[in-house]
Amino acid sequence: MCGIVGYTGTRQAGPILIGGLEKLEYRGYDSAGISINDGNGIKIAKALGRLAMLEGITDGGRKLRGTAGLGHTRWATHGRPSDANSHPHLSQTGRIAVVHNGIIENYRVLKEMLINRGRVFVSETDTEVATQLIDFYYEGDLLRAVHRAMNDIEGAYALGIMCADDPDTLIAVRKQAPLIVAYGEGENYFASDVTAVLEHTKRVSYLSDGEIAVLTPGEVKFYDSFLQPVEKQVEIIDWDVSAAEKGGYEHFMIKEILEQPRALRDTVSPRIRDGKIVFEGIELDADYIRGIDWIYIVACGSSYHVGVVAKYNIERIVRKPVQVVLASEFRYSEPLVTGNTLAIMISQSGETADTIAALREAKRLGARTLAIVNVVGSTIAREADDVLYTWAGPEIAVATTKAYSTQLAVTYLLTLYFAECCGRITESELAAYLEELNRIPDKLEEICSKREHVQYLASLYFSADNIFFIGRNIDYALSLEGSLKLKEISYICSEAYAAGELKHGTISLIEDDTPVVAVMTSRRLMEKTASNAEEVKARGARVLAVTTESLRKEAERVADNVIAIPDSSDMFLPSLAIVPMQLFSYYVAVSRGCNIDKPRNLAKSVTVE
Ligand code: G6P
Repeated sequence: MCGIVGYTGTRQAGPILIGGLEKLEYRGYDSAGISINDGNGIKIAKALGRLAMLEGITDGGRKLRGTAGLGHTRWATHGRPSDANSHPHLSQTGRIAVVHNGIIENYRVLKEMLINRGRVFVSETDTEVATQLIDFYYEGDLLRAVHRAMNDIEGAYALGIMCADDPDTLIAVRKQAPLIVAYGEGENYFASDVTAVLEHTKRVSYLSDGEIAVLTPGEVKFYDSFLQPVEKQVEIIDWDVSAAEKGGYEHFMIKEILEQPRALRDTVSPRIRDGKIVFEGIELDADYIRGIDWIYIVACGSSYHVGVVAKYNIERIVRKPVQVVLASEFRYSEPLVTGNTLAIMISQSGETADTIAALREAKRLGARTLAIVNVVGSTIAREADDVLYTWAGPEIAVATTKAYSTQLAVTYLLTLYFAECCGRITESELAAYLEELNRIPDKLEEICSKREHVQYLASLYFSADNIFFIGRNIDYALSLEGSLKLKEISYICSEAYAAGELKHGTISLIEDDTPVVAVMTSRRLMEKTASNAEEVKARGARVLAVTTESLRKEAERVADNVIAIPDSSDMFLPSLAIVPMQLFSYYVAVSRGCNIDKPRNLAKSVTVE
């Protein structure tokens, strides 16, 4: 949940570290800090609040002189956000500085041991324990000290470490938290993810669990958990730096919403060839798919909501049972897995701690695993039996939009592929579906071009204290995401309900002027949801309907305001309907003056349990 970065080379480290942290701020942003060895020991600057505070007090990193250092942007786990709890942490002797992403689970025991040996702590963090422990073991060889400390530490971590005695050397280690090493000319880097270094280099290596990297300006050496040297493959990132920049938009979120037509094309087009779905590099053959008796979809947050949509589609079209489970629940639920169980993990980052744990649990129990992931080379992508990438490009806004949409698109392809393998659709039906799917990006462009209407509607609803979302079936799945999008960035209390369930309690919350977003894209269920909209209207609610062009008239009869999306087959409607809901949340949050790209208390990549 935090971002770490390290640089060693010949240039001044400060501005490079601050530049890297700017790209990592999406991972956490309650405080930030850098440490640099200026030749007279390690100097540290840290500041509570956004990175801009740190930039201010260090003149963009220039005030700390030196060519090697560490940077950190924090999302608090142990100890509230404060200067003292910010990273980098310095050991009592001033010799060792550490930045950390993750959680050290046995920090209390280690802290007690160190206190008994005379160490004094100045923060409430688990990271300071790691710092003091490395210092405790340090006898002139930093690598050995780090290795001994790793043997004691339990939990998940990516650590960046520097030692006053060896100003040019950085050590980076990883256990269940993302970490990459990147190579420049006469300079090297490590970081929580590639966006932090993209403006300097595109050559990177991914560390595996338990691996240690020792970086100097001229080289990077890798070791396994037994300190045996390891050879790492160098990979070339094909993202453009501009993909991780705002490109003239006021916020990443709106940029990413408007990128969705392109993102969907990139995700879908290469996988349709001559009227067939082609999944390159995955090994799920037709025989295996026919034999599947149970599908789990496991994910967190918006990725979980994609799973809920996929369940409706897979069960309706493939006729196989699907259970969608929150990753944090799956891992402790003693799931029922047979040799014919397929577990699909959905994750934008590929680094969500609960989803990683669920993946490992599913594998341990004998399930075959398939990951739908955006970040290439991430832990989930590497550990799953098969992986389908979503090709959304880097997503920076904390509230996901284009990653959600491309995940949905992959689930459509998967549903159709399964249906074909199981003989549930004919060739001509498949062709018709694929033709329709190919047209979705154009329809998305049309929706985006009409965003002013949504902006106007947002101006009517932005001052609400509570907003409800209702829908049935796949429209309910969409409501879950529409509601989450709104609450996470606007801080309006918002709940999604299966429309038919409302009357069993929740309807008592409806009073004069309570806004209710009624998602009514399904022709089959239109009448039913319209009746539920009538019920809330009769109790004073203001109803905003999200529907299709062909259902507009029916929607207008019950709703105060209507957003109509182009028609499409039921299966793909979520892709169209979610965009106005994303835009609605965006404009509501803008009207309320919220921090759009970095909502309070959130982080994009949740690498703690
Ligand atoms: C965080 C993000 C959400 C995301 C969820 C799961 O809460 O803010 O946008 O849906 O994590 O993340 P993943 O990377 O596994 O999709």
